Amino acid sequence: MYSKTLPTGIDKILWSETKIKRRVCELAAEIEQDYLKSISNKHPRYQPIVAIGILKGAFIFLSDLIRAISVPVEPDFVRVSSYSMGVNPGQLHFVHDAKTSLKERHVLIVEDIVDTGLTLSFLANEFKKRGAASIKFCALIDKTCRREKEVQLDYVGFHYSGDAFLVGYGLDYEEKYRNLIYIATLSPSAIQSSS
Ligand code: IMP
Repeated sequence: MYSKTLPTGIDKILWSETKIKRRVCELAAEIEQDYLKSISNKHPRYQPIVAIGILKGAFIFLSDLIRAISVPVEPDFVRVSSYSMGVNPGQLHFVHDAKTSLKERHVLIVEDIVDTGLTLSFLANEFKKRGAASIKFCALIDKTCRREKEVQLDYVGFHYSGDAFLVGYGLDYEEKYRNLIYIATLSPSAIQSSS
């Protein structure tokens, strides 16, 4: 249930709690099926999926997703940031790295929202170097309007072609709104008034 008045700065709810829950369960079922098809748990080298959430935005999505998957999953997290100054401005680096060894593991990268695609392509390159057996991408939202790097997403919750800034269900604007149970657009005036 939502109160009739939306929090300050929120424009429009795009996906309700019910819609998100349903979609997360559908994604979990797809992932589980694909995983069971590609690797049997009788296989001598059977290993649980390593689901790597990208902090901070994916923490809610990852925790709901893995609880809807019934094959073994090991969660881990990374956090990446871009240098604002120095020799390589704009270049991504790890602020927090995964602790799990990815060698010969089936890795599922879990992202809240894909925007330019730079984060996912950076992670794919890094994890390939570590010898992952497979790397798949799962994004709750595929926001296409500012894409710079083409990334092949294996699982997508919702497609979004608009250019609004989205918040809720882990997504923030200046650390606010992560705890909203729905995903909504942020009004442009909320962005202007904070800058
Ligand atoms: P990119 O795909 O490398 O541009 O980075 C995606 C990251 O940018 C996401 O993990 C979010 O942290 C952030 N981001 C991009 N668009 C939005 C948005 O609409 N709302 C909230 N965060 C966003």
